[in-house]
Amino acid sequence: MPQLEIRPIETGDGVKSLSLGDEKFAPLKTFLQKHAKDYEVATLARTYVAVEPDLNSKPQIRGYITLVAGEIVTDGAAPLIETPAYAYSQYPAVKIARLAVHKDYRGSGLGRELVDLALGITKSYICPRVGCRFVVVDAKRCSIPFYDRCGFTLLDTRTNKRRSEPVMFVDLNKIPV
Ligand SMILES: CC(C)(COP(=O)(O)OP(=O)(O)OC[C@H]1O[C@@H](n2cnc3c(N)ncnc32)[C@H](O)[C@@H]1OP(=O)(O)O)[C@@H](O)C(=O)NCCC(=O)NCCS
Repeated sequence: MPQLEIRPIETGDGVKSLSLGDEKFAPLKTFLQKHAKDYEVATLARTYVAVEPDLNSKPQIRGYITLVAGEIVTDGAAPLIETPAYAYSQYPAVKIARLAVHKDYRGSGLGRELVDLALGITKSYICPRVGCRFVVVDAKRCSIPFYDRCGFTLLDTRTNKRRSEPVMFVDLNKIPV
């Protein structure tokens, strides 16, 4: 596996060569090709890419993760924290809005590296400055085992478990910095 650099997306990055295999992942490809750079400029989303340096052409993106401000709506679930007593059913969170790894690069730890980056950025830079306790994702059903391995918990409500993309979350107070 070639050495990849993980960093914020840049204008000159090649967005066309991210091959995701199954057609059901096409929206993840479209987002990278058509929206990620514009959303970056407009401060609507932050996208981090894993790029393979190419001396003869643009750096090629082999995986990416997009983060936005979000929340967890518990919708009748038990409170997500024990103390202090928290009077709301919405919890502040950073949301993984998109995550994808090139089909030829899966299974080598890149997805986990991108998720760890999201956890690290949120815990180290967001939490000390803005109230935020969780990282959350609407997990595609096929990616639930992956998020499980990355330490995420499925929000425990019947409605959530029936969703096509159930909410999963990590409590940042339970992971080391
Ligand atoms: C989900 C995805 C990002 C995972 O990326 P990846 O680079 O293959 O994952 P990693 O190699 O970092 O795997 C981390 C762990 O999860 C496990 N894992 C990954 N995908 C898995 C799967 N489909 N089923 C079970 N376990 C899985 C790995 O075995 C590894 O386990 P370990 O803790 O024993 O080492 C990638 O498969 C992908 O891009 N899928 C298509 C798009 C998608 O579903 N995105 C998620 C949107 S919510």
